[in-house]
Amino acid sequence: MDKALLEATAAALVAPGKGILAADESNGTMTKRLEGVGVESSEEARRAYRANLFATPGCESAVSGVILYDETIRQSMDDGTPIPDYLNSRGIFPGIKVDTGTVDLDGCPDEKVTKGIEAEPENGWADLGTRCAEYFAMGARFAKWRAVIKITSDGAGGRGDLPSGTCISANADALARYAVICQENGLVPIIEPEVLMDGDHMQDVCFVVTQDVLKATYAQCEVQGVHLPGTLLKPNMIIRGNDDTIDIRKTRQDVADETVHCLNRSVPIEVGGVVFLSGGQSDEEATDHLNLMNAMDVEHPWQLSYSYGRALQAAALKSWAEEGAEASQAAFAHRAKMNSLARSGDWDISLE
Ligand code: 13P
Repeated sequence: MDKALLEATAAALVAPGKGILAADESNGTMTKRLEGVGVESSEEARRAYRANLFATPGCESAVSGVILYDETIRQSMDDGTPIPDYLNSRGIFPGIKVDTGTVDLDGCPDEKVTKGIEAEPENGWADLGTRCAEYFAMGARFAKWRAVIKITSDGAGGRGDLPSGTCISANADALARYAVICQENGLVPIIEPEVLMDGDHMQDVCFVVTQDVLKATYAQCEVQGVHLPGTLLKPNMIIRGNDDTIDIRKTRQDVADETVHCLNRSVPIEVGGVVFLSGGQSDEEATDHLNLMNAMDVEHPWQLSYSYGRALQAAALKSWAEEGAEASQAAFAHRAKMNSLARSGDWDISLE
């Protein structure tokens, strides 16, 4: 394991003012997103939209890395330059989603475990180590694996039956195993245990579940020998469920405070950096929450940055469908700039 390379990559991905663009939607998800704005999805439609996004002038000042899907890392820009080569030429690290989705967790109704370590010949996937080596040779320097943790409530906003301990430990085990395999192949693993915003649970429940999930994940990382300074964590923020009606008076400052508090209790200081997911928050909320965290006095040992998908792309996708290439780039450049400012607590609503 080349620890120096991994640490240097992780540090560069969370350099001041910079964060990650998550553009690694699977073909199924990207098809839904394109159809959502009235664009028919095809291999070429997905390539054209993304190539235009990546070509946005100046975006390298706010974007340290882009997470790609397997289809995209093999595609080219309009002039024929392979996409990973193009990103590297702009000083942007190409990254790669390496999980192959989720499967039902035996004995745990409604829960999932993420897969992608073993080969899946029926789906055309080689085993994870083989794929990591190939992606590294193509220019990728980091990877992503997303575990999905669902909360159910007791009907009054309190904690219900899910997640089960089995779901938490099965996903923690897989995340740690993935992380080691990536590191052995020179890729910085982004460890993403996403506690979903779906449901009517209160913010406190999100806090407790996220804490349990993070502690279990890092316990497995220790057992399996993950080199933490050469990893990034991609967590959810501590936020009430979408359908919760009790905590509606919680402020954005509450979300920022509780998120930093939860991370300080659950994440080892050695971790190379924290890059949040947006998880269904509005563009402005995702920016504001990150800005508040970076503006507060409470100490935290990691850079707090972004690895947003929807919160960086929603406006660009809509503009792509309605106004065309230049408008899409302008919308993306604006959101990237806003989040870049939030890295140092310098964003303000008046800039929107
Ligand atoms: P969102 O920011 O849209 O949640 O996407 C981030 C991501 O990559 C989820 O895996």
